[in-house]
Amino acid sequence: MIFQARKLMAVLAAASMVLVLTHAGGTFGAPAYADSDLQAQFSVFFAHNGWTEQLPDNRKISRTGDYPSAFRAGLTGQPAGMSGTVLYSVNVSGTGWTARAENGATAGKEIPEGAPLESIKVWLNGDLAKNYDICTRVMVDGAWQDWVRNGQEAGQAGVGKHLDGICVSVVKKGETPGDSSEQVEAGTPAAAGTASGTASGTGTADASKPMVALTFDDGPSSYDARTLAALEAVGGHATFFMVGNRVAAHADIVQRMVADGCELGNHSFAHQDLAKLSSDAIQQTIAQTNDALMSVAGQPASVIRPPYGAVGGAVKPTLAAMGYAAILWHIDTLDWKTRNTANTVKVVLDQVQDGDIVLMHSIYEPSAAAAEQIIPELVNRGYQLVTVSELANARGGMTPGVGYGRFRP
Ligand code: NI
Repeated sequence: MIFQARKLMAVLAAASMVLVLTHAGGTFGAPAYADSDLQAQFSVFFAHNGWTEQLPDNRKISRTGDYPSAFRAGLTGQPAGMSGTVLYSVNVSGTGWTARAENGATAGKEIPEGAPLESIKVWLNGDLAKNYDICTRVMVDGAWQDWVRNGQEAGQAGVGKHLDGICVSVVKKGETPGDSSEQVEAGTPAAAGTASGTASGTGTADASKPMVALTFDDGPSSYDARTLAALEAVGGHATFFMVGNRVAAHADIVQRMVADGCELGNHSFAHQDLAKLSSDAIQQTIAQTNDALMSVAGQPASVIRPPYGAVGGAVKPTLAAMGYAAILWHIDTLDWKTRNTANTVKVVLDQVQDGDIVLMHSIYEPSAAAAEQIIPELVNRGYQLVTVSELANARGGMTPGVGYGRFRP
């Protein structure tokens, strides 16, 4: 039942995207200002309601019970012969700053229940930047903040607060936008537990110290309880790339992961080889797993690992469009094959280096036994045990559609 409702929401979100794209051809007819022809136009993807219509310059947009997870902006009335365009980057909870996008391209996660935006930067380039300022203000904790301009950060990343609303306006150099008109839309209420908006496993690590991201695939499983206990004993984190169809049966384990500051990862719904699926089918299996995680933990996965590490076919472009990187690994313990605790321990401890992502599995008892030895020994050696997102955030972030096996200093 919940899944049906979410599917409907995804369809509605897709329909509103088409609407925005239809409007993106410069047909938006806001009246020109007397002192400036150039105006911003923008759209916001709300995680539970999809894209807004194309909004005019200086319109404040927020939605009750929802949060922005993607953004795009364009310009109208660009003076003939004046070079430049609008560029922007958004800070996605759990993955950090996106690559810059420009002039109508999407920045952030365009998927239902995507991770929230924590802050946003918008700027102009070319001759436009010499003649105009682009100003941005955001709503946080229900209150509109002051304007920032020309690439300054609106909102604050890394403090566990998401944006509630966004407003963008272009003015002549040095001027400040006037009073905004406000648009508060009645949202489909966010699911319980998402209101705080911070994805699992996205705390901060000390970037100056060595760190390693242990990852456990194909669960959740009752063996994860042993791995979690070992992590709890040292205050460490790990990332669990889970198969959606196993989630409901191990809800307590998934909740314990979140409570421990571990990261929820998406490993498809039924461990499909995504490289053999269409883009639509890839999006569906990822969304199904996120739905399963939402219903037991109140939040979707913040990172994705394609089964078998298969990133061919439509995988990378699809993940890019969804705002996800492909998380791979640098140390392959082959624990699934050896089922040998001593061997798994040796592979990790012999090979580990600062910034590595280590691949292990949730569903074999010898792997949990290995984790119980590896976790305290890595801490003894001075490693911080971090999630994939914590590692990435400390080492420059991730770009959607790119595969990562490690994040070296
Ligand atoms: Ni797997």
